[in-house]
Amino acid sequence: MGKKAIVTSALPYANGEIHLGHIASTYLPADVTNRYLKLTGMESYYVCASDDFGTPILIQSEQEGKTPAEYVAHWNKRALDDFSSFNIGFDYFYRTSSEENISFVQDVFKKLNDAGHIYEREIIQFYCDNDKKFLPDRYVKGSCPHCNAEDQYSDLCENCGRVPDEIVDPKCAICGKPPTRKKTNHYFFKLKNFGDSLSRWLDENQHLQKDVKKYVQNWIRSGLVDWDITRDISWGVPIPLDAANGKVLYGWFDNHLAYISATLKFLNDKGIDGKKFWNTADIYHFIGKDIVYHHYLFLPAMRLGIGSEYKLPDFIPTRGHLTLQAKKISKSRNWYIGLKEFLQYYPADYLRYHLVSINPYSQDDLNFDWDDFATRINSELIGNLGNFVNRALEFTKKEFDGKVPEYESFDEKDAEAEQKIRSLAADVGDLMKQNHLDRALKKIMEFSSHFNQYFQHKEPWKNGPGTANCVYLSVNAVRSISIAILPFMPESANKIWMQLGLDKKISAKWNDMSVLGMSANHALGYTSPLFSKVKSKDIENHKKRLGTIRTR
Ligand code: MF3
Ligand code: ZN
Repeated sequence: MGKKAIVTSALPYANGEIHLGHIASTYLPADVTNRYLKLTGMESYYVCASDDFGTPILIQSEQEGKTPAEYVAHWNKRALDDFSSFNIGFDYFYRTSSEENISFVQDVFKKLNDAGHIYEREIIQFYCDNDKKFLPDRYVKGSCPHCNAEDQYSDLCENCGRVPDEIVDPKCAICGKPPTRKKTNHYFFKLKNFGDSLSRWLDENQHLQKDVKKYVQNWIRSGLVDWDITRDISWGVPIPLDAANGKVLYGWFDNHLAYISATLKFLNDKGIDGKKFWNTADIYHFIGKDIVYHHYLFLPAMRLGIGSEYKLPDFIPTRGHLTLQAKKISKSRNWYIGLKEFLQYYPADYLRYHLVSINPYSQDDLNFDWDDFATRINSELIGNLGNFVNRALEFTKKEFDGKVPEYESFDEKDAEAEQKIRSLAADVGDLMKQNHLDRALKKIMEFSSHFNQYFQHKEPWKNGPGTANCVYLSVNAVRSISIAILPFMPESANKIWMQLGLDKKISAKWNDMSVLGMSANHALGYTSPLFSKVKSKDIENHKKRLGTIRTR
């Protein structure tokens, strides 16, 4: 690990609300990592943006009678509001339709073109004579040639997951009339040029997940296909060539470049040399497994194509998809839980705890289950961590007038407890460095559980010898816990810090959790239970509401 980092996560499309599926695989792991890196003293920034361009967004804005710019402005704001109430702490949230991104993207296009990585070719596209429009991607619906499912978009069959090469019985998605075919000139990115250099980069990068690397290498071996980076629509980054005549770039050409352009804007505005920062920082791109192709091939190839003027990613943490009650999330079938709605019922930290716990550093899918949520919160978060923090602090209040007692010489159990505190920063930190956020959180829970047992074993309520040591070490363990959970549950962490009679916000650094920082006579603050139980009656209601139409 270096001293600086840029953390990004897949940019959310500006066309709908953020739901649990989005945050589980991408935004939450990225946020926890960014908070952790900052806590270790690194200069780390989490930069994100809304993904504004593309055919689906243009269609939806038209359907709502808004200009695309109005439409994406609405969703950009809504996404940021929802993320903020979940304590996703972006250092900067921008948009792919910003002037800065548009000119950055055009510049990259020109450089790729000058370097010979772009060529022009005539292709045949669907065209609607009625609407006077070319019909890319979602503008055409028809039957899937593979599985015969009806009413599928021409760029993806939602039934079988394949990309139809030629949709059967095509219809214009706007007016329903059958389209004609028309010739048009498109620009292609020569992805084929990059097979060897991509392969070398994959071999050399030791941080990428081995299993993902393996199948990306297989794709390269079986031959890369050049990318059509052109769309004949009005909403996108204009191709910066006179001959392009109003054509725009495909959304996947411009969106990931906003990782860089938004970072440059943010840092340059702060008076930092953004480009220099980028090129000397650890670069993290957090993604879900559905966009591996784009991030392991297309994105690095484009960066290589402009002479690696901007560093390639060091980490591309890739995680699986969230299912809901073991069923695939689907917005159209109302089988999803909006983030905003969830937060009306439970604090952000409950969801943060739960989603980190069930989310391994792998591409395996994970499942949100309401009963499992209730069990984990009630028995782990409350039964273990909340219980230990509360009993240690309450006991100090009651028996020691709210002051940390003086310790005497340690017995074996005390020494063992002290050792747990001394090694916590390294124990948890090792897992954090390897992106195993779930295991790191589990380590913290084991620490808390150890102290619960220690407290139980010492029976301080009997006020025998060793009581002062037990309370002294337990209060110190509470302090360690509050620092350790800061990346995971920032609100609860700061609450504990206050109850310890420290500041409003944690000022300590990561390694401070392994110091016995609560010295004798320090007075605790106001204490109260951190959490309240999840009720089974409510859980039943949440289950019933799923799949029904809810107002948002
Ligand atoms: N909006 C895209 C999606 O949701 C992700 C864009 S990630 C970026 O699939 F790299 F392109 F920015
Ligand atoms: Zn039409």
